[in-house]
Amino acid sequence: MARTPLMAGNWKMNCNHVEAVGLVEQLAWTLKDFKYEPERSEAAVIVPFTDIRSVQTVIEGDRLPLAFGAQDVSVYDSGAYTGEIAAGMLAKLNCKYVVVGHSERREYHGETDELINAKAKKVIAAGMTPIICVGEVLEVRKAGIHVSHVLTQTKGVLDGIPAEQVAKLVIAYEPVWAIGTGEVATPQDAQEVCGAIRGYVAEAFGEEAAKGVRIQYGGSVKASNVVEIMAEPDVDGALVGGASLKADEFAKIVMFYTVA
Ligand code: 13P
Repeated sequence: MARTPLMAGNWKMNCNHVEAVGLVEQLAWTLKDFKYEPERSEAAVIVPFTDIRSVQTVIEGDRLPLAFGAQDVSVYDSGAYTGEIAAGMLAKLNCKYVVVGHSERREYHGETDELINAKAKKVIAAGMTPIICVGEVLEVRKAGIHVSHVLTQTKGVLDGIPAEQVAKLVIAYEPVWAIGTGEVATPQDAQEVCGAIRGYVAEAFGEEAAKGVRIQYGGSVKASNVVEIMAEPDVDGALVGGASLKADEFAKIVMFYTVA
């Protein structure tokens, strides 16, 4: 079975719930105008916690062809963890995806592969799909050890997850030096690491898992560079930051296949 590409807009800390409803509606209208075919490319918005209920209401109420999800989750199920949000709470809101281990969480909140692995397991246990982020910083890239570095992260974040679950989850390769910098990895850079990740999954979890797992590229993806990145065999979508905040631009990214 061919992998359906996943184009996920990570809004990061942008848009309050009122703005979120506006952006989702605008995105849906634009996709409709462009004659979007959801079976060719799945579109998702990954929004701040405070936006989820409103985004759910508009997407489900108007039956919009968009998935939605959250940007982080707690490793705990409930209890005295002030400020945390449990996987069960996100599942109750019908979130399909939860991003875990984004490089901004790793950098500003000290998240480790071990913690990210625990979060991914909570997301799976609650019936949602984790989008698990990996990626090297500039010094690692300069040292030429980015492939082994990312594979070590991948090993850590997937540890103990059953192969049939690995087949269904999403891994996002986001080189940190390409995030929000306008510096895009070349399609060959993206393929080198995405291909290596799939190779690792095949080795550690088997061919079926490797065939099923979707591997995204993220880092300064725009309508103008998405087509060439998506032409690479092991790139199954994009995790998009800045460009996902503009309906027209994100709609063009989602519909990369019309140009391909
Ligand atoms: P930009 O697309 O703004 O570079 O952000 C990428 C990213 O971090 C998505 O998660």
